[in-house]
Amino acid sequence: MKNIAVYPGSFDPITNGHVDIINRGLRIFEKIIVAVLENPKKKPLFSTKKRVAMINSIYQNEKNVEVKAFEGLLIEFAKENKAKIVIRGLRAISDFEYEFQMALMNKKLDSKIETFFMVPSLKYSFLSSKLVKEVCMLGGSLTGLIAPQIEKNIIEKFKKNKKTYNRKKG
Ligand code: PNS
Repeated sequence: MKNIAVYPGSFDPITNGHVDIINRGLRIFEKIIVAVLENPKKKPLFSTKKRVAMINSIYQNEKNVEVKAFEGLLIEFAKENKAKIVIRGLRAISDFEYEFQMALMNKKLDSKIETFFMVPSLKYSFLSSKLVKEVCMLGGSLTGLIAPQIEKNIIEKFKKNKKTYNRKKG
């Protein structure tokens, strides 16, 4: 059986920090299923379908990465997909408490599921989808933070939503 891991998240949108974790995870796991959370309670910038499509645009030629939407309990999704590992990125101490709680709750729900924490490359250790959205909304450069095709999507989105948009040309 393949060594399958699930990498769950909101991915609203996927950043180069996420990509870094997935790419390095592929050296350890035979297959990574990127699990995009469909949460009716949250109001993401991008629809679930769009978030899945954006991740697929990066991994269209990578047969060991599969992208799926999920709702409900993560451990159920992992079980359905025959994955015993959950990958999570751990950037700083501030991430730790939440991640620790989630890992222990998942363990309580299913003792066979292990959480595998990965530390991002230093150059992405400050990066988050939330900050990417804020920088974009305020007209800052996203170069090096997200894939170019996703940068286009996010700029368009802010234009469409007529959110504060003050991007300099060039
Ligand atoms: O990118 P995020 O928003 O930090 O990802 C959070 C995510 C999707 C990993 C988390 O919210 C999750 O696993 N949601 C599924 C619901 C669940 O299983 N809850 C119980 C375990 S904490």
